[in-house]
This record gives sequence, C-alpha cells and structure tokens, in this order.
Amino acid sequence: MDDLIKKAAADLAAARYVVALTGAGISTESGIPPFRGKGGLWERFDPMEIAHIDAFMRDPAKVWNLLVKEMKKIVDSALPNDGHKGLVKLEEMGKLKTVITQNIDGLHQAAGNTDVIEFHGNFAWQRCMDCMRKYETSKVDVSVIPPRCDCGGILRPDAVFFGEMIPTDAMWRSRQAASACDLMLVVGTSAIVQPACLMPVYAKQSGAKVVEINPERTPLTGKFSDYLIMGKAGDVMNRIVAAMDKNEG
Ligand code: OAD
Repeated sequence: MDDLIKKAAADLAAARYVVALTGAGISTESGIPPFRGKGGLWERFDPMEIAHIDAFMRDPAKVWNLLVKEMKKIVDSALPNDGHKGLVKLEEMGKLKTVITQNIDGLHQAAGNTDVIEFHGNFAWQRCMDCMRKYETSKVDVSVIPPRCDCGGILRPDAVFFGEMIPTDAMWRSRQAASACDLMLVVGTSAIVQPACLMPVYAKQSGAKVVEINPERTPLTGKFSDYLIMGKAGDVMNRIVAAMDKNEG
C-alpha cells in the first residue's frame, strides 16, 4: 500500500482541481453503519420497504419507527473522523475544491469543508409534506410518530428517498465539478447507486485521474478508477496527508 500512498500524494500535489465523491464508508468510523455489506442497514431491512418514497407515503409511521428515528439517534451524536478531517486538510492545502457526498449526516460540513454538495439531501432538516416548512431534526419531538408540523402535515427527512429525483441543483453542480476536476477521490462508496456513481465516469471521460479509497473493490475498480488504495478512509487519508507534508517539507 505504501507505494500507492506515495503515488496518491504525488498525484494530489500535481493536481489543481480536486473533487471528492464520498459515500457511507467514510462515516463508518464515526459510528454510522453503511447500507451494504457486513453490518449494513440493508442486511436488516429491505430498502424498498423502508427507504422508498412509496413506502413512506403508504406508512410514514413505519418508516419513522424503523429508519428515521434510528438514524436521528445515530446522526445526532456522530462526530467527524480522520477521513473527513483529511479532506479538510486537502482543502486547506488549496487542492480540494468540492465534496460531492451521498451521505446525509452533515459530517463533511461539521469537519470544515466549505463546498459540500449533498447529492441525496440531508438529515439536518425535516420538512412538512403539506406546507414545506422546515424543522431542525435535532429539535423534532419524536414522542409521537410520525411527528407533525404545526399545520398538521407529516414531517419527512429533507433527504432523497429511493424513487425520488436528485435535487436539480445538486445534480447540475456535481456534473459540473466532475467534468472540471483533474483528480477525483472516490472515498467509501460501493459505487452502485445511480446517478451518483456516474460522477467518476464523467471525471474520467473529461481526462481526470480517478483514485479510490475503499477496503473493497467496486464496479469502478480497474475500469474507471486509475487505482484503488485498499484501506479504511481514516488511516489512508492520514497517510496521504502525512506523505504530502513530507514532500513539501
Ligand atoms: P454503501 O453502504 O453501498 O457502500 C459503502 C462502501 O464503503 C463499501 O464499498 C465499503 O467497502 C466501503 N467502506 C466501508 N468501511 C469503510 C471505511 N472505513 N473506509 C472507506 N470505505 C469503507 O454506501 P454508499 O455507496 O454511500 O442512498 O451507498 C449509496 C447510496 O445507497 C446511499 O446514499 C443511500 C443508499 O441506499 C439513498 O438512500 C438514496
């Protein structure tokens, strides 16, 4: 792995416009479970039963009880880890311009990245399905499920359920960033959910280097990514940043 760390440090040093695409894997070290794989949410639940908009419309209380309440508990207390902090250091070095994240946990912003595109929306806010008023998730009273707005409407996460469109602005800005970058870091995503997983493809097609950080191979590996650094985001980011510091010093 050492050679790949050195290679990534050199590639990042040479890059002028770095964009990161992140997924649930970058937040596992903050105690947030991923969706797929061992210990993943979809091992316990069928996503079509609890994370599809039709399921929410059919039975909002069920989705609140099985998914939203549990996520609220986990996200309310989660803190950024070394993976998130490494991306902040890359921004401070003037390399990383934008983070495109599929995560809804807000940890990139909490760590200090300034331009974060929330591709699947966020969990920081709930919105009324009738009047669209927004409520801070941490302040929503979950003693009665589903929680309701003052107008009586049901509250839902301000995030994207399966079966819903990606917010237009997030989609447009992500495509722009993917096509403009000269290096894309793809961290902790299984890269199977569209259209997010197409961003590295757009980056590659526009001539950028694509570097994956993940303990597992993904459908991008060997096809759209130039190389995969097999490891956990926190450890790998620490080592890359240390190698860049050493090269500069
Ligand atoms: P997944 O759960 O599909 O994939 C997590 C990825 O992170 C896997 O490839 C793991 O190998 C990797 N991983 C695990 N621990 C890691 C660590 N410590 N460091 C680095 N990588 C690690 O999560 P996503 O790809 O984010 O969508 O899933 C994409 C979308 O599917 C989510 O945004 C969500 C979900 O259904 C919606 O809810 C719309």
